[in-house]
Amino acid sequence: MKPEKLWNLLQEMTLEEKIHQMLQLPNACYQQKNNLTGALEDGTLTREMIEQAGSILSVYGAKEVRRIQEEYLKHQPHGIPLLFMLDVINGYQTVYPIPLAQGAMFDPALSKELAQMAAKEAAVSGVQVTFSPMVDLVRDARWGRVMESTGEDPYLNGLYAAAMVEGYQGDSLSDPYSVAACVKHFAGYGAPDAGRDYNTVELSDRTFEEYYLPAYRAGVDAGAAMVMTSFNTVNGIPASGNRKLMRDVLRGEMGFDGVLISDWAAIAEMIPHGYCADRKEAAQRALDAGVDIDMTTGIYSEQLADLVRAGVVQESLIDEAVLRILTLKNELGLFEDPYKSLNEEAERQIHLCPEHRALARKAAEESFVLLKNDGVLPLSKETSVAYIGPYVNNREMLGSWSFIASTDTVQTFEEAAKAWYGEGAAVRYCQGAPVLETGTPISGLGSQTLPQVTEADCDRWLREAVEAAKTADTVVLLLGEHRFQSGEAASRADITLPDVQMRLFEAVCAANDNVAAVIFSGRPLDLRRVSQKAKAVLEVWMPGTEAASAILRTITGQCCPQGKLPMSFPYAVGQVPVHYNEFRTGRPLTPEVEADRFRSRYLDIPNEPLYPFGYGLSYTSFSYQPVTIDREEAQIAALKAGDALHVSVTVTNTGKVTGTETVQLYLCDVAASVVRPVKELKGFQKVTLAPGESQTVTFSVGFKELSFTMADGERGVEPGTFIAYAGGDSRTPNAVSFVCR
Ligand code: BGC
Repeated sequence: MKPEKLWNLLQEMTLEEKIHQMLQLPNACYQQKNNLTGALEDGTLTREMIEQAGSILSVYGAKEVRRIQEEYLKHQPHGIPLLFMLDVINGYQTVYPIPLAQGAMFDPALSKELAQMAAKEAAVSGVQVTFSPMVDLVRDARWGRVMESTGEDPYLNGLYAAAMVEGYQGDSLSDPYSVAACVKHFAGYGAPDAGRDYNTVELSDRTFEEYYLPAYRAGVDAGAAMVMTSFNTVNGIPASGNRKLMRDVLRGEMGFDGVLISDWAAIAEMIPHGYCADRKEAAQRALDAGVDIDMTTGIYSEQLADLVRAGVVQESLIDEAVLRILTLKNELGLFEDPYKSLNEEAERQIHLCPEHRALARKAAEESFVLLKNDGVLPLSKETSVAYIGPYVNNREMLGSWSFIASTDTVQTFEEAAKAWYGEGAAVRYCQGAPVLETGTPISGLGSQTLPQVTEADCDRWLREAVEAAKTADTVVLLLGEHRFQSGEAASRADITLPDVQMRLFEAVCAANDNVAAVIFSGRPLDLRRVSQKAKAVLEVWMPGTEAASAILRTITGQCCPQGKLPMSFPYAVGQVPVHYNEFRTGRPLTPEVEADRFRSRYLDIPNEPLYPFGYGLSYTSFSYQPVTIDREEAQIAALKAGDALHVSVTVTNTGKVTGTETVQLYLCDVAASVVRPVKELKGFQKVTLAPGESQTVTFSVGFKELSFTMADGERGVEPGTFIAYAGGDSRTPNAVSFVCR
C-alpha cells in the first residue's frame, strides 16, 4: 500500500484498536485463547486485546502461521495483518555457530551469508522479524549471554552488526526471503555488574558512548527495521523508560525511525526496578520514551486508553508508534499478502538443504580457534586414537537459542568419525563422563533436566576411558559446558569445565601423554589447567548442525584452523572482566618494571589473560616482517579532508601447509586530552597463503581510525604521536610510530 494511505488507515482506527497494535502476544496466548497461560495468567489480556494485538512472538511454521493469520484476519476490521516475530539467532533449521563463534571467524561477510540463509529458512516458515542481531559489547565471561555477542571489540561488533542486518533484510523487506532485523538490547546490556544477568549496569558516559554504543549505531546505519530495549538501567533509568536514551540518542543522534520494542516484560519490570510505582506509570513512561511495542505484558493495552482519556498522555504519541508499526507491516509487503512467503513445500526443500549445511560447516570450520598445539594435531588417519568425553556421542551442539531445530538433524562426532575411518581403524570411542553431574543447575529454553547418571555409571565410564587412553597413541578429549550453561539467565561464577569432566581430564592425562582437548563452550572458560596438561587445545564453541563433520575435518587436517579469539580467555576468573583494549593507567606493568610491587597488578596471577583477543594458531606458522608506514607525519586538517597514512606488513607462511591468517591492525594514541586505551583494533584482513608464500597487507589509517571523542566532546584527531601495531593477535609487539600535526 502507498505509505500515505497508512495515515488514512490510522484515522479510521479507534483508540483501542490503535493501542492493541502496540501489544505483542506470547505464543501460548493465541494458541489457547480460552486457556491463557504464563504471562497472561493474571487475566489482564481480554479476548479483544488478543484478537487485535499487532504482533505475536514465537509462532512459526508455514501451516501454523497461516492458520493463525487466517483466524486473526477474521476479527480484524481494517484487514491489518498480524506480525510474527521470533528469535532466529544462529540459524532456523540449519544451525550455524553461535554469534561468539562467528566473531572468531573475523569474517562479517560470511555472517551476512549465514543471516541470509537463516532469513530464507525462517521466511518460508512465516517468520517476519527476527530478534537478532544482539550487538551488546561483552567483557565479562561470567555473563551467560556473551554467547550471543560477537565479543569485546566495538569495531568488530559494528562490522558484524551491519553484516547481519544486511543479511537478514536483503535488498528490500518486501522480498520473499527477507526478514526484518531487530538490533538488541539497547543499550549496554552486555555490562551487567559482576556478570550476573539482569543486574545493574554502571558505565561512564564516555565508556558507554565510545565502546558500547558503536555497534548499535552500525546496526541502525545498516537499516535495521527494529531495535529492542534492554532490561538494564542506563544512568539509573531503566532503558525501557529512558526518554533521553531512546528519543535523544537512538531516534535523535542515531536517526533511528523504525519500530522500538521492549524486551520481554521490560516495561512492567520498571516497577520492581523502583522506577515506576504501578503499571499505569510504567505504561506512561515507556510511551513517553518512545517504546512502540510492549512485549507480552499487556500493559499498554490495559493502561493507555484511560491515560489518553484522562489527558495524561497525548494520543499523538500513540499515533506515532502505530504508524511506525503499520509502516513496518507495509514494508514487509503484508498488506498485499498477509501470507507472504509461507510455503510448506519450500520448507521441505530449503530447510537443511545440502547448500545450507555446507555453509554451516564452512562457518564452523572458520570459527574454531586452535589455542595450543605441541604437534599433536592434526591426526593422520593411521594414528591409533581414543576419542573420549561427553561430546563424543552427543547431539547437543547447537547452542542455547536453537530451540526450534531438532537435534535429530545433528550427527554425533562418533557417527561422523566412524563413517570417515571405515572398518578396522585403530580408533575407540568412550563416554568418559557425563556433561554434568545430575542436579547441576542449568538454564534453558528447551528441556531443562539432565539425564540421571549414577556414581556407578561415572566410575565405569572413567575406567573404560583410562583403559582406552592407555592403549592409544593419542587421545582426543571432547569436553565442554552444557549448552544451557550459557545463554540467557545462565551466568556462572566459576567458569571452568565441570568438575566431573576435569576428573576425567586428569585421569586421561595421567594415562597418556598425547592428549588433545576439543572444548565446547558458549563463553571464554578458565582453561589454565587444560592448557598446562593437554598438548593441543581446540576451542569449538557451539558449532551447530554440522559440528561433527567440521570438528572431524579440522582435527584430521582436512581443513586448517584459522579462528581468532573475539574475547579474551582469562587466566583466572578473578581477572574478569578482562579485555585487551583497557585504558592506560599511571602504573602500567611492563617487563622493565616486572619486579616493582607498586604497579597495577595482581600478587598471585599475571595481568595478561591466558589467551588474548585476536589470538589463534594454525597448522602452519606465519612470520611477520617489521611493520612499515608510508610516511611518518600527517596533517590533521588533511586527514579530515580524506588523507590517510598507509601501514603495511608482509606476512609469510613459514610452515608446511596452506593456511589462513587474520592480519590485525591496532592503534594507540600516546597522549591525548582524555586517557585512551592501550590499543584498539582498527582493521584486519584475512590472507590465505601456500607454504613459502608471502603477502603484503596494507591498511589505510585516516580520520575514522584516528579520531575519538575528545575532552571537549567533539570527535577529532589530536596532535601527537601514535603507534600502529600489525600482527597476528592483540599482543603483537610489531609496531611503528607516526605523528599527527
Ligand atoms: C530476551 C531477548 C529475546 C526475547 C524474546 C528475552 O528474554 O532478553 O533477547 O529476544 O526474550 O524471546
